[in-house]
Amino acid sequence: MSITERILFLKQFRENFQLTGSVTPSSRFLAKAIISEFVKHQKPSVILEVGPGTGVFTRELAINMKPGDTLYVCEINPVFADNISQFIQTHPDFKSVRGQIKIINKPLQELNDMAAFDYIISSLPMNNFDVKLVLDIHSYFRTNLKPEGTLSYFEYIGVRRVRSYLGKKEERMKLRELDKVLRDFVKKNEYKHEWVPFNILPAHVRHLRFNKTN
Ligand SMILES: C[S@@+](CC[C@H](N)C(=O)[O-])C[C@H]1O[C@@H](n2cnc3c(N)ncnc32)[C@H](O)[C@@H]1O
Repeated sequence: MSITERILFLKQFRENFQLTGSVTPSSRFLAKAIISEFVKHQKPSVILEVGPGTGVFTRELAINMKPGDTLYVCEINPVFADNISQFIQTHPDFKSVRGQIKIINKPLQELNDMAAFDYIISSLPMNNFDVKLVLDIHSYFRTNLKPEGTLSYFEYIGVRRVRSYLGKKEERMKLRELDKVLRDFVKKNEYKHEWVPFNILPAHVRHLRFNKTN
């Protein structure tokens, strides 16, 4: 990861703390863990990456894409969206798959339903969102992931719990309610879990699959 990427990330964190959710891009250890289900794919797949930031996961996805795969990259922040477009056009790791990647500069919650994804890789900083938005995002994931598809995402270990005891009362109440929603989501749908200690901050990587009953 280059110094330029780190500086860009830090600047976006300072300007858009709520949306960026982290001071620095994720490590390659976290990138490898989050794409660990995707790398097993055998047939042409449609992938949605939400929140690429400076593209640490996008690059690992590109390295593991095969002919016939299509990757949609959804990024709310126009600075990150422009940066990732440039990255894809210029970095050699994207050379053979450039034509298979589409950048969408919009929030996830404004995407049309496609019901077509084999994999969704999400970096959304859910702890910074209100409960209604998180429920809307879960609903988008459920509607748009194929029944046999996989949703992979990460969350920093212990951060929600710590924050739910600090700060203003309203924020603490929100985080406690959010904690219930997110735990319930994991309990019902998670089929694989990994810990990634080598990251700022250490993280859980979660892999989920929905069945028709929830
Ligand atoms: C924690 S950063 C992760 C960046 C990168 N994947 C990484 O791990 O280094 C969260 C990313 O989600 C993006 N984001 C936040 N809310 C979003 C939304 N509603 N739709 C799409 N992207 C969003 C932010 O702009 C940022 O790029």
